[in-house]
Amino acid sequence: MIPREIIDEIRARCDIEDVIGGYVTLKRAGSNVKGLCPFHSEKTPSFTVYPSSQSFYCFGCGAGGDVITFTMKYHSLDYAGAVEYLAQRAGITIPQSGEHEERGVPRKRIYELNLAVARYFRECLFDPVTGREAMDYLVNDRKLSPATIKRFGLGFAPNHPFALLQHLRSLGFTDEEMTAGYIEAKSQKTGKPYSIFRNRVMFPIIDTSGNVIAFGGRVMDDSKPKYLNSSDTPAFKKSKNLFALNYAKGECAERMILCEGYMDVIALHAAGFPYAVATLGTAITSDQARLMTKYTKKVIITYDSDEAGQKATDRAMQILGEVGMDVRVLSMSGAKDPDEYIKKYGAPQFSRLLDESKYGFYYKLDGILAKHDINIPEEKIKAAEEITYLISTFDSSVERDIYISLSSAKLSVVPEAMKNDVERKRKRSYRAAKAKEEQNARLAARGIGDKVNPDTAKYVAASAAEEAILGLMLEFPEHRSAVVSGRVALTEDDFVTALGKRIFSAVCELEASDGGFDYSLLGESFTPEEMGRMQKMMRHRRELSENGLDVLINSAERLKNEVNKTKIKNTDDRIAAIEAKRRRLKENS
Ligand code: CTP
Ligand code: MN
Repeated sequence: MIPREIIDEIRARCDIEDVIGGYVTLKRAGSNVKGLCPFHSEKTPSFTVYPSSQSFYCFGCGAGGDVITFTMKYHSLDYAGAVEYLAQRAGITIPQSGEHEERGVPRKRIYELNLAVARYFRECLFDPVTGREAMDYLVNDRKLSPATIKRFGLGFAPNHPFALLQHLRSLGFTDEEMTAGYIEAKSQKTGKPYSIFRNRVMFPIIDTSGNVIAFGGRVMDDSKPKYLNSSDTPAFKKSKNLFALNYAKGECAERMILCEGYMDVIALHAAGFPYAVATLGTAITSDQARLMTKYTKKVIITYDSDEAGQKATDRAMQILGEVGMDVRVLSMSGAKDPDEYIKKYGAPQFSRLLDESKYGFYYKLDGILAKHDINIPEEKIKAAEEITYLISTFDSSVERDIYISLSSAKLSVVPEAMKNDVERKRKRSYRAAKAKEEQNARLAARGIGDKVNPDTAKYVAASAAEEAILGLMLEFPEHRSAVVSGRVALTEDDFVTALGKRIFSAVCELEASDGGFDYSLLGESFTPEEMGRMQKMMRHRRELSENGLDVLINSAERLKNEVNKTKIKNTDDRIAAIEAKRRRLKENS
């Protein structure tokens, strides 16, 4: 637990407008400030910061909370991490006494487990008998030097169901820990524990502090699946880490290479490009993109040259562009990926490709021009269509102007014609985006597509009553004490949605605790999306003039009535169904 005084101190010293203003351009709108939401892509600002309540809320995606929630979500940190981050920013020292307790297996323990596992895999690989086939595969098929194998801590998971588990038990690890760390699973048929990684060459994944956080394992033949990766564990979030960032972080100030595979990264590092990283078997996420911005300003995408790789390139360009990265794309022909390319053409040639890598626009322009023969007028028209659309996606008018003059020269059409088309397309997509945002807001208002609290769709009226009660309790101390003292009779069982139950019991628990209620402390047990939902409830109450105790009492009654109605309705339906069946049976006999 982080001491309350620290939380108070952070809130006093980290003004939400200052903190968020460091990442988002905010413009004044009445007593609040607004900007483009950093958590979803939008064209019109719906991200609002409320200096008076030191909170934020996005009307587009529903993210919201306080300065701690923002820091959690923006920097992909957990609650304790965000508190530490802000404390450091404000020059507050957090007393080290009383390590904060984590639920389940602590992260530190998984690090220890993974380290033991990585050592075991390495010993197996270097064992002349056990590791023979794997070493042969890495050295002869994949052409890795012993130095590279050692540097990346590669290993081999022997084809044995439980030798690793026994070894780990002898070191004092429990089955619970091994299961939580995605090392052990239980057979569905026999219930017997077995090791998840077997007969694979193993790639440990190491974070920037040097902890082994997960593993990837590759088969040595053509069997499936080619790669097996750790699932998320208390020590690992696939969507928030990058392979080899531990090595690349000190080498990538000038530029970073993003590729698809473990083997590409290893081949690149071995060939003298130690600033390559890869995502962990998934498309790049905005969390990973933001993580990169901590270490570099420029990234060169070198995905596979096949169609899937090119699609992934388009998406990665967009995500990396959104976090403000200078994005280039490397075009490669004659090989499917960097690993193969370097083997075939050598490192100096690859280095040339890196230097020639193009800004996203030129890369896409080349793709369009390669598709159409612009000597044929109709094809030229199609190319112009695609190019004007592409240019219309750039927000800076200077950029648009430069690209228009460049491509109109390439197509030999007058720039004015292209400019008109570009601006028309911009207006059209702006209108479409705005309509979509409005539709999403309408759907969200009706609780449709509610990911934060999916139960609202099932209990529309009851969940509205719940939100009124929770909004009042979150916002006003007198409502909290009315409930906790029992003056207004309400229990967790009266709530119907899972999120409603959780919020209610957390608020009551805090209210009854020594220090009393504090919204910021909820961040420890709720996600930023859920914190955002609470902001919405509170804001809604603030906008209403009637917030007396009678509103709370009425809402509680309404909630109980709604719940009874649902129950009665269900019983009525059931009785009606039984009677109908009885009648049918009678008629048939
Ligand atoms: N990947 C995965 N699961 C699979 C296939 C791929 O997680 N079943 C991930 C791995 O991280 C892999 C990356 O996607 O490194 C790229 O896949 P692919 O291009 O098929 O593999 P390569 O890295 O090129 O592997 P190799 O050269 O060993 O065939
Ligand atoms: Mn490959």
